[in-house]
Amino acid sequence: MGSITWPFLKWAGGKRRLARPLAALCPEHIERYVEPFLGSGALFLYLAQTRPSFPAALSDSNAELVNVYRCVRDSAGELAEILEDHERKYYKNPERHYYRVRDDYKAQGRIERAARMIFLNKTCYNGLYRVNRSGRFNVPHGMYVRPAICNRRTLAAASDILNRSGVWIRSADYTRATAACRAGDLVYLDPPYLPLTKTANFTDYTTQSFDYDDHVALAREFHRLADLGCTVVLSNSNSARIRNLYDGFAIQTVGINRSINCNASRRTGQSELVVTSAPAPVIRRLPQRGRQALRASAPRTS
Ligand SMILES: C[S@@+](CC[C@H](N)C(=O)[O-])C[C@H]1O[C@@H](n2cnc3c(N)ncnc32)[C@H](O)[C@@H]1O
Repeated sequence: MGSITWPFLKWAGGKRRLARPLAALCPEHIERYVEPFLGSGALFLYLAQTRPSFPAALSDSNAELVNVYRCVRDSAGELAEILEDHERKYYKNPERHYYRVRDDYKAQGRIERAARMIFLNKTCYNGLYRVNRSGRFNVPHGMYVRPAICNRRTLAAASDILNRSGVWIRSADYTRATAACRAGDLVYLDPPYLPLTKTANFTDYTTQSFDYDDHVALAREFHRLADLGCTVVLSNSNSARIRNLYDGFAIQTVGINRSINCNASRRTGQSELVVTSAPAPVIRRLPQRGRQALRASAPRTS
């Protein structure tokens, strides 16, 4: 196996650094994989390259994000050409091209729209995706010096994976995906985290927010899926309110150094939770970057 292809997007809450330890919690043979909060799809991409081929139902409520995936799958070459054009223009005058694309540019058709989203993702502040109430992308220009905007190899490799038979991607609320789950599925739930403080965490991926009541409903769904016979893995912020929702399941704490946080001083020392529906090995091998403490923190009773 060659080197791993990592996500073609930078995403708030992205699991690139945690993909390996999370994969260690997943069965070796995957009957069917369901990931309804897809984001940049770090765990899916990692599993797709390290496990025997499996069918997958991928979804996210962000329709623009799902359009990007479909264009990577169907039109990676055309997408790369448009991105290279953005790259040339951006390198000549970064600030001007960024704001032109963000505010004035009318993308014609779905491939130009996808290229616009990837371009903004690579050049905006911290790779954030944030839209205002009317759905307009409003993140300021980032600080990167000549960021790579088009990576043909990554796009082509991701395209090959998304073109595998049995891999489906759609735009939908997570409840539509979980309603279709059946016994034997591996379900990875990575919702917008419950903020630990009013300003600490970024959760505005779409015009819809994900509040505490949504987390309560998601926990109910976690319990239902576990009873149904699915293997369920869930990530969330490390807070007592979230722990209480998963009482009785195996909960591990994983330290992570998140790069997407508006306040640089808050980028270290954070930890998050990984909840599994069935007894799972304690993760001992940590990601190389963001190496922090990780411990089993609840008895496994299920
Ligand atoms: C923490 S991110 C997922 C990160 C992903 N695991 C990765 O590695 O990049 C949460 C995702 O949930 C999506 N989302 C928010 N509310 C949703 C909902 N009600 N149903 C489905 N997806 C939702 C957001 O668009 C965002 O992409």
